[in-house]
Amino acid sequence: MGHERGANRRLGAPCTRPRARSALPVMMPPVSLPESERVGAWIVGGAGNVATTVAVGLAALARGLIEPVGLVTCAEPLAHLPLAPPGAFVLGGHELPGRDPRETARGLAAERVFREDLVCATAPELARYCEELRPGIDGACGAAEFARVRADLASFRERHRLARVVVLHLATTEAAVALPTTSDPDELLAAITRDTAKLPASALYAAAALDLGMGYVNFTPSVGAGLPALEELARRRGAPHAGADGKTGETLVKTALAPMFAIRELRVTSWFGQNVLGNADGAALADPARRDAKRKSKGAALGEILGYEPDADVGISYLRAFGDWKVAWDHIAFEGFGGARMAMQFTWQGCDSALAAPLCIDLLRLVELAQRRGERGALPWLAMFFKAPVGTREHRLEAQHRMLLEHLLGDKAQHRMPLEHLLGDKA
Ligand SMILES: NC(=O)c1ccc[n+]([C@@H]2O[C@H](COP(=O)([O-])OP(=O)(O)OC[C@H]3O[C@@H](n4cnc5c(N)ncnc54)[C@H](O)[C@@H]3O)[C@@H](O)[C@H]2O)c1
Repeated sequence: MGHERGANRRLGAPCTRPRARSALPVMMPPVSLPESERVGAWIVGGAGNVATTVAVGLAALARGLIEPVGLVTCAEPLAHLPLAPPGAFVLGGHELPGRDPRETARGLAAERVFREDLVCATAPELARYCEELRPGIDGACGAAEFARVRADLASFRERHRLARVVVLHLATTEAAVALPTTSDPDELLAAITRDTAKLPASALYAAAALDLGMGYVNFTPSVGAGLPALEELARRRGAPHAGADGKTGETLVKTALAPMFAIRELRVTSWFGQNVLGNADGAALADPARRDAKRKSKGAALGEILGYEPDADVGISYLRAFGDWKVAWDHIAFEGFGGARMAMQFTWQGCDSALAAPLCIDLLRLVELAQRRGERGALPWLAMFFKAPVGTREHRLEAQHRMLLEHLLGDKAQHRMPLEHLLGDKA
């Protein structure tokens, strides 16, 4: 109550060159990750638009060059949790040959996704990140790919003496394929190492990360850790994981709006959404098999929230001229008292990477905290970040937000007051 915008935001990193465009403070006191501890963020799809915005964003936040707008972990009531500051993350990742985050960064700056001077100011961090990128695996993968990815991850953790590593999956959406149904991790790992099972690359990256006890986040609709055996593997190895498919645009609005119709007993008869985007993600989704994976995760929420399935469809179109700016138009027809027919429409115009990157940074910080606290397996309390959350069927945004606060703050979540009053010396 009564907080100025920005004044209730908190980052643990020292601010070397405060250059925020507003007069509001960016620099905040440090949070309690032991000084000696460094943590790793390993990004799969490391030169993509979102990955690059995360890398530039973490460096810019650590240097105090931007405000943490869009980061829920930097605002009350979560800002006083002992989360890793942006500067504590060492970055590395996997990427297919021929892509370079420095080129992606220049392209995003030219599109005005972020300021051009940020690319120059964060060049040293981006150069260090590029040195830590390793060739990725692709297609149907087996023993050799698993061994290589596992070795890359283990070597990253050892080389930098990292206390914990979170693997963030940001690679191009895969087409859905038939998957092993076993729920026994030993059986799955044996099949991978004997080359009797081929898995999509996203599942192999997840298997390697979880097998090493690393945290894992799947920000894409690809299968990732979504195999029963990988869920059990995560529990056995003490690895927390979250996913799937970041909720950044149309689905974010949908899951905030649909509960209104449910609460007021208005009957939704149809819900049609059309998305247009022009970035590399959009180009990939022009492939019908990949688009189906995305449409499936986008379509998951409505029936769960309303308790019935209206006539619904989601379209995704690629139009290069739109670049990283996505437009979604939704038409919702509904019935009221006496069968009166009504409709509402909304248009959402968002910058894809600028919407996704702060969520990714929040997720890196929260999954790292979960790992530090010994949480293992699926983290349903992170549902509000995803279109198809693991471990829960709760899709309502407000209810998901409550789950997040209750998990992290317990009884104190109800008060929703600045946490310095509530946490006392635990903060
Ligand atoms: N708002 C958003 O931007 C948003 C929201 C939800 C989900 N996502 C998902 O996040 C992912 C990244 O989006 P983006 O806009 O950065 O896409 P992008 O196309 O810019 O980046 C994807 C990167 O992954 C790399 N890649 C592809 N296959 C790989 C593999 N097997 N191993 C390693 N790297 C591989 C590509 O070379 C590319 O650099 C997509 O799957 C997208 O659907 C994005």
